[in-house]
Amino acid sequence: MKTMRMFLVLIFATFFFLGFAATSFAVIANTPHDLSSDFSGSTDEICIFCHTPHNAKATPTDYNPLWNMDTPLSAGYIPYASSTFMDGGTTISDPLVGPSRLCMSCHDGTIAIDNAVNGTSTDYIQVFNPSTTALLGTDLSNDHPIGFDYVAAQALDLELYPAGTAYAGGLISDFLFGDVMTCASCHDVHEENGVGGMFLLVDNNASALCLSCHIK
Ligand code: HEC
Ligand code: HEC
Ligand code: HEC
Ligand code: HEC
Repeated sequence: MKTMRMFLVLIFATFFFLGFAATSFAVIANTPHDLSSDFSGSTDEICIFCHTPHNAKATPTDYNPLWNMDTPLSAGYIPYASSTFMDGGTTISDPLVGPSRLCMSCHDGTIAIDNAVNGTSTDYIQVFNPSTTALLGTDLSNDHPIGFDYVAAQALDLELYPAGTAYAGGLISDFLFGDVMTCASCHDVHEENGVGGMFLLVDNNASALCLSCHIK
């Protein structure tokens, strides 16, 4: 009886540990953002392609989580525009404000993705994967708008949920930079969240991501 109980405790402990281990691995490792095995020889670290514990870059200045990459300026970027966007009239002054500029360290195709570890490399995202669809370029006019004030937009557009609405395990406002909508309002750079890739904050099955903000 006693051995049986010990056995059950052991089984439980094993499953608990495995479950725990599985959760702690369900993050950036082995996602498309884990570049550690792509540039073997230079490093086997994961975070180093984006962050460094010491001697981080001096730019960007608006949001710099110990950034290890060069970053683009907003100059030359074409922002989204349309006649109905925020009731028209509003132009986005800096489309890359906040975390979006960090994404463009790789996704505009002008800075090598191993810039942080291999210095003067020319491994731009389109060289790294010639058939990549993850090259956004610097023309953002054909991409979902970013770099504008969500709260101001919501005040003008009755078909948007208020920033205090539940979203991705928190509130929409938790995923704004100040009040500004960015790439990180839809994407979690660190986790695929088990929803078919794309680093989305919400599984977009039946457009659930879109319908978290848009009342349509
Ligand atoms: C592909 C680039 C990339 C890699 C690799 C990466 N990060 Fe990040 N990290 C970012 C970006 C971009 C942000 C800002 C976006 C945001 O806050 O949503 C960020 C923000 C952070 C932050 C501050 C905000 C927060 O989420 O708490 C921490 C802490 C962090 N990263 C830790 C790590 C650690 C630890 C690793 C390695 C296991 C890592 N990151 C790997 C790109 C990366
Ligand atoms: C985190 C909130 C959020 C999510 C998620 C989101 N949007 Fe938006 N979207 C906005 C805001 C805010 C605007 C600007 C609102 C406005 O123009 O009145 C906008 C603008 C748009 C526009 C342009 C409107 C115009 O008048 O030019 C379209 C189209 C759109 N979104 C479609 C989508 C689709 C499709 C998805 C899902 C893939 C999506 N959105 C996900 C918040 C969001
Ligand atoms: C250090 C460079 C780097 C940074 C910084 C970076 N990415 Fe990526 N990202 C990549 C690479 C490399 C891929 C894989 C491209 C390929 O193989 O086609 C990728 C792929 C993706 C994909 C496609 C994932 C899939 O499942 O196919 C998304 C979405 C994405 N990144 C979003 C972001 C967002 C949003 C940010 C900023 C918050 C960001 N990335 C920052 C390098 C980066
Ligand atoms: C309104 C939400 C939203 C915003 C804002 C947004 N994305 Fe996305 N992104 C998505 C969705 C949804 C997908 C998946 C599309 C699909 O499955 O075809 C996606 C796909 C991607 C991909 C993969 C493209 C592909 O087809 O392989 C990359 C890379 C990416 N996003 C980067 C970014 C970057 C960088 C920013 C900021 C400049 C950004 N996204 C802003 C919703 C968004």
